[in-house]
Amino acid sequence: MKSILVTGGAGFIGSNYINYILKERDDYFIVNLDKLTYAGNLENLITSQANKNYHFIKGDITNSDLVNFIFEKFKIKYVINFAAESHVDRSILGSEIFYRTNVIGTNVLLETARKFEVEKFLQVSTDEVYGSLGNEGYFTETTPISPNSPYASSKAAADMMVLAFNHTFGMPVVITRCSNNYGPFQFPEKLIPLMIINSLNDKKLPVYGDGLNVRDWIYVIDHNEAINLVLEKGKIGEVYNIGASNEMQNIDIVKLILKYLNKTEDSIQYVKDRPGHDRRYAIDSTKIKNELGWKPKFSFEEAIEKTIEWYVQNKSWWQRIITGEYQKYYETQYKL
Ligand code: NAD
Ligand code: TYD
Repeated sequence: MKSILVTGGAGFIGSNYINYILKERDDYFIVNLDKLTYAGNLENLITSQANKNYHFIKGDITNSDLVNFIFEKFKIKYVINFAAESHVDRSILGSEIFYRTNVIGTNVLLETARKFEVEKFLQVSTDEVYGSLGNEGYFTETTPISPNSPYASSKAAADMMVLAFNHTFGMPVVITRCSNNYGPFQFPEKLIPLMIINSLNDKKLPVYGDGLNVRDWIYVIDHNEAINLVLEKGKIGEVYNIGASNEMQNIDIVKLILKYLNKTEDSIQYVKDRPGHDRRYAIDSTKIKNELGWKPKFSFEEAIEKTIEWYVQNKSWWQRIITGEYQKYYETQYKL
């Protein structure tokens, strides 16, 4: 039995990982440590909660006593660190919590993992640590780290720390850097769920700047399969980029969603650009393909339809979310 600490497992990618892996594997015991911030939601884990190989603990990764207790009690041998403050716009509104969770929190996990001599520590990172591309070229694992937003800089700091623990202490670490994910259970502050939900509610669709910024989209299950492969087979001390070679301009994503939902384009509203808005992300995932044999299984056309349909079918999930804290955030961010 592999005893794995999954942090941030009540968020979008972490919950999809847990639901997916507990169906696939009966030799994994998952301890999910999540603070249940605005982005954490135990409803994402309904299919896993009764599984005998799953245990949830509400808590903060910056709480060293709690993290030590968990490593000792559950004999943790593997760590997958999903826990983070993850939204660029929120990091522009206020950055402190980003550095606390993403940097200090990762440090607490690293120190504890070192003490308990874990077999592998996987840091879930992002292509945003590389900064922004012009019209040409791709991020490879050797592209210089050059983060632009407070969020990206906190993730870059964590990456540097993880690699330093490998260099200095020989800790068995690996890092994955993935492009933009989409799929079920994504919090509706991010582009795709926000546009789907606003369309379903006949609200305006706020497109930043000229709408021509490019992101490289991957279905969350493809990301999670790659993470698991890196956990099992990734070479210690290495970084692996993950992406599905699916670059899209934001405006094209918005139009595609409207078309699928049979809505007119009148609701598109160009709004003030995000400060420091990265123009283009595009991932070269040759390394993980060649060295570990990974490839994405989902086509964008198929998976985006599945995703839109999920939000259509699961209104009660997001209707509960878009009250309270979300309303306040929405009003501050979009001044509507
Ligand atoms: P999310 O915001 O949906 O979920 C984050 C989870 O972490 C939430 O459940 C939250 O409660 C938890 N959390 C936050 N602070 C915590 C703390 N101090 N202690 C314990 N738990 C805490 O984020 P996501 O989109 O699922 O992203 C997961 C990871 O993947 C992040 O590390 C993010 O940087 C990375 N990533 C995300 C994307 C993307 O497109 N969403 C792409 C590449 C990498
Ligand atoms: P987002 O989902 O926040 O991911 P990231 O900034 O981490 O790439 O945004 C994806 C793209 O969509 C990004 O270029 C910003 C843009 N965007 C909008 O145009 N309007 C919005 O309301 C949001 C949330 C994002």
